[in-house]
Amino acid sequence: MTVLVTGSRGRVGRALIDLLHARGDAVRAASRNPADLALPDGVPSLSLALDEPDTFAPALDGVTSVFLYADGAHTEAFAREAAAAGVRHIVLLSSGSVNEPGAERHPIGRSHWQAEQALAAGPVTSTFLRPGPFAANALGWAHSIKAGGTVDLPYPGAYTDPIHELDLAEAALAVLTDPARQGGAYTLGGPEALSFRDQAEQIARGTGRPVTVNPVSPEAWKESVAAYVPGHFADALLDYWRSSDGEPLALAGGVEELTGRPARTFATWVADHAADFTA
Ligand SMILES: NC(=O)c1ccc[n+]([C@@H]2O[C@H](COP(=O)([O-])OP(=O)(O)OC[C@H]3O[C@@H](n4cnc5c(N)ncnc54)[C@H](OP(=O)(O)O)[C@@H]3O)[C@@H](O)[C@H]2O)c1
Repeated sequence: MTVLVTGSRGRVGRALIDLLHARGDAVRAASRNPADLALPDGVPSLSLALDEPDTFAPALDGVTSVFLYADGAHTEAFAREAAAAGVRHIVLLSSGSVNEPGAERHPIGRSHWQAEQALAAGPVTSTFLRPGPFAANALGWAHSIKAGGTVDLPYPGAYTDPIHELDLAEAALAVLTDPARQGGAYTLGGPEALSFRDQAEQIARGTGRPVTVNPVSPEAWKESVAAYVPGHFADALLDYWRSSDGEPLALAGGVEELTGRPARTFATWVADHAADFTA
């Protein structure tokens, strides 16, 4: 098996490279900016941009399996080149938002839905990993926590089941290495439903520093992130959080199904990332 990992600067892709390398599998790290990668000895890097189809064929030469980030507009071209190169299996990092009604029109779900459709219509066996919100989204709070021990939240009582990037990487490894699990779709989440207020408390406990949650209006939050979150995307996030405000959601069992052990807790994720909130 020779695995091409796209999006190698991404947290999931990067963790998967370490897992494959530790097993002795042949792995290639592809990235839009390979110069930024710090890779284990012996892992080659190469340039691949998921929105530049000219970069696909050279990256796929000699590859048998791919871990793919979702780019709805260009996945059809990627699947075509992968088939031509003799790739036998593609694992897509999709999104749990694909499970929602109207995903094909939804600002968050659409690109993942398109990527899944393109792969499902192609000749290469494809497996879809559909995670809910990443635990790593809390890194968006790191700057304000480090600066003043606060975090501004429009819906502090909104629940998610945050998933550790290592669980996603291990789930990807499980489907890459077990033919019996290939070709399906797996919904993945963390082991517990936690409100954002709960998550802030766990960061405080795990870092030993107080964290104060400041409730802010949805409009004020949208304004504060306008420089880097497009308006329609911010609206979709606000709708999602409003829908789970005070409502613990049902948990997805995909991590345990694929890896054979419970998903890591948010407390574990905080312990693994404490320096990001303190250094
Ligand atoms: N954050 C969440 O809660 C969440 C939940 C469900 C699904 N997802 C999906 O998981 C993926 C990664 O999420 P993230 O941004 O939070 O993780 P991240 O770890 O910050 O990953 C960012 C990296 O992923 C690669 N990448 C991702 N999407 C790409 C695309 N469309 N085209 C090219 N490269 C792409 C790029 O790597 P290189 O620069 O090395 O090429 C980029 O630097 C996204 O598709 C996201 O929609 C996220």
